[in-house]
Amino acid sequence: MKKVTKAVIPAAGLGTRVLPATKAIPKEMLPIVDKPTLQYIVEEVIESGIKEILIIIGRNKTSIEDHFDRSIELEKTLAEKGKSDLLGLVEDISNLVDIHYVRQKEPKGLGHAIYCARTFVRDEPFAVLLGDDIVKSEPPCLRQLVDIYNEKHGSVVGVQEVPDEDVNKYGIVKYIDGSNGTYRISDLIEKPELKDAPSNMAIMGRYVITPAIFDILGRTKPGKGGEIQLTDALNELARKEDIFAHIFKGKRFDAGDKMGYLKATIEFALEKEDLGPELRKYIKELQKKF
Ligand code: UTP
Repeated sequence: MKKVTKAVIPAAGLGTRVLPATKAIPKEMLPIVDKPTLQYIVEEVIESGIKEILIIIGRNKTSIEDHFDRSIELEKTLAEKGKSDLLGLVEDISNLVDIHYVRQKEPKGLGHAIYCARTFVRDEPFAVLLGDDIVKSEPPCLRQLVDIYNEKHGSVVGVQEVPDEDVNKYGIVKYIDGSNGTYRISDLIEKPELKDAPSNMAIMGRYVITPAIFDILGRTKPGKGGEIQLTDALNELARKEDIFAHIFKGKRFDAGDKMGYLKATIEFALEKEDLGPELRKYIKELQKKF
């Protein structure tokens, strides 16, 4: 059985939910405290033992390439000023891993973005991490899914239960059997109405997928919202191969949504030694006014 050695991070969406911030800056580059969302995701890939990354970029995404590249001028200035701690931070980013890029020429949907990865992935199982979904967990969320893939030898989608009112915002799975948080799936439905939803188990931006998906994606027609949906292609894959849903441990933030972005910012800041204590005091003060 082939091992999972490659990860694909789609980051070519328009980010309309956070306009106008995303007019010139990709939402994946908006910082959560002092690090762009995308860097948290790249770090999760590395901590999960995967060393090759493909980022799907769109227009206005050159800042992504610059961020993960070396910045010789900045490094030189910091070295001259003796700012070795900052120099370390800047150098670390470019030393993290080998990152490749491919351009999705038009944002035709997540399924279409993943299809752009076919030459990079070839005939291997691969990981997908959405560029705006951060998961705080130990072990890393992707590591948890790769472990299930190694055990079951089939595609795995990361899921968590959501309340009824949120079901229509996610891909939802229908499962046949399973236990201990891992279930065999029969159907995957993109953003169903609550009355049509077969469960409350929602797909949360982390996947391990077998390469059979590419043939299917090549002929998947636009679905919900006129976009080529990865969920629709996975639904077809489930007719051919066993696919599993795994309820991963950890807290997930949708940083591509204003409220999710705020929550992530506050929680990550509270955990920082240099910011947490003062921020906690400030929040307590604010609370008195509510
Ligand atoms: P989203 O649906 O959250 O991204 O896609 P979006 O379309 O940018 O969001 P809004 O609704 O307009 O605010 C999930 C992930 O898939 C990527 C996005 O960049 C995001 O990381 N994506 C989406 C692509 O790479 N290409 C696409 O055509 C669509």
